[in-house]
Amino acid sequence: MDTEHIQRTFVEYFEEHGHRRITGSTLLPPPGGPVLFTTAGMHPLTPYLEGRPHPLGTRLVNVQRCLRTTDLEEVGDATHLTVFEMLGTWSLGDYDGSTSLDWGYGLLTEGLGIDPGLLHATVHGGDDRTGPDTDSLRVWQELGVPVEPTVDANWWSNGPVGPCGPDSEIFLWSGDTPPRSTPTRDERWVEVWNHVMMRYRRLEDGSLVPLPRRNVDTGLGLERLASLLQGRSSVFECDVFDPWRRLVPDLWPLDEPSLRLVYDHLRSAVVVIGDRVRPAATGQGYVLRRLVRRVLTVLWRDDPSRSLGDLPLELVSHTLDHFRQSGEPGDVRRLLLEEERRFGRLLERGRKVLARPRFRGPLREEDFHHLHDTHGLPRELVTGLRPDLGGS
Ligand code: ALA
Repeated sequence: MDTEHIQRTFVEYFEEHGHRRITGSTLLPPPGGPVLFTTAGMHPLTPYLEGRPHPLGTRLVNVQRCLRTTDLEEVGDATHLTVFEMLGTWSLGDYDGSTSLDWGYGLLTEGLGIDPGLLHATVHGGDDRTGPDTDSLRVWQELGVPVEPTVDANWWSNGPVGPCGPDSEIFLWSGDTPPRSTPTRDERWVEVWNHVMMRYRRLEDGSLVPLPRRNVDTGLGLERLASLLQGRSSVFECDVFDPWRRLVPDLWPLDEPSLRLVYDHLRSAVVVIGDRVRPAATGQGYVLRRLVRRVLTVLWRDDPSRSLGDLPLELVSHTLDHFRQSGEPGDVRRLLLEEERRFGRLLERGRKVLARPRFRGPLREEDFHHLHDTHGLPRELVTGLRPDLGGS
């Protein structure tokens, strides 16, 4: 079952349950918002979760591309990607969390054919913010799905302020032998779908106030679910990455962790460029710059002649097509190549400056500032050129 099929099954199932499909947004939130990129499907819907009526009603479904820089260090493991797609549903003051979980179970087991014995749930166990989520607990018990109460892992918010609430997460077993433990004790339980009972808004001072309506916000990680349904051991082996795995290892023979980083970061960079971000020294453009530089650092580690100019255009167009972006593949690759040249020149200058006697020993905070302000050398680049300083 490929990702297109999963998406279609998901959207149609919720349409049958009265949801209207809304178009996913780009990765770029409206200017002035608290985050650089869209990090969850709910993000573009914040005003509606906070009470504004949505023109399409109170039951919504969509597919939203998301980018999470908090996961950057985890990329390379079996489940984290920088850019990923989230299948989402919303009840804007309409049905309750129990109905959402019940439908979620129906879709996973009947719609997608998952063996109910491979599911586990978690629910919020109660703390000083809110009591235990007995409604969700009851749903899982009635459905016969094992359920584990936790506290911090079952509270979801998109940032320090804004809509938030207790959640119930659905895990799918990825092990070869039958499950014997719970999601907090065995990481072979992979979280695939989060149902948030979005009932509160957190204010600047940290206090919680009830939202005007009791909403439900759910998000299902498409690539995670696809890799499990396809019997693959990591997100990098789901169908989305087929062309990358076919073309990149011959071009750049690297070890598996490095290949995963290259696939993830280059694919993410293409999508970010497809959403019209350009490399820059700050903000969204800096995230793009970091992605490209991390790829180049890996590529050049054992062969400085490698170049993004060799990136097969098929990979760029496959990615742009998948995300329905209109950029020209050749232009995207040219942009990557320009950024590569800029980085190459900067590294050269960095090496020369760091060879000066003043910078040979341990560097103090003021040296880092000087290198940055006077020579345009970011700390990351300096620690990359001087691994003895303990940076990455
Ligand atoms: N907004 C929730 C999440 O991203 C569904 O996990």
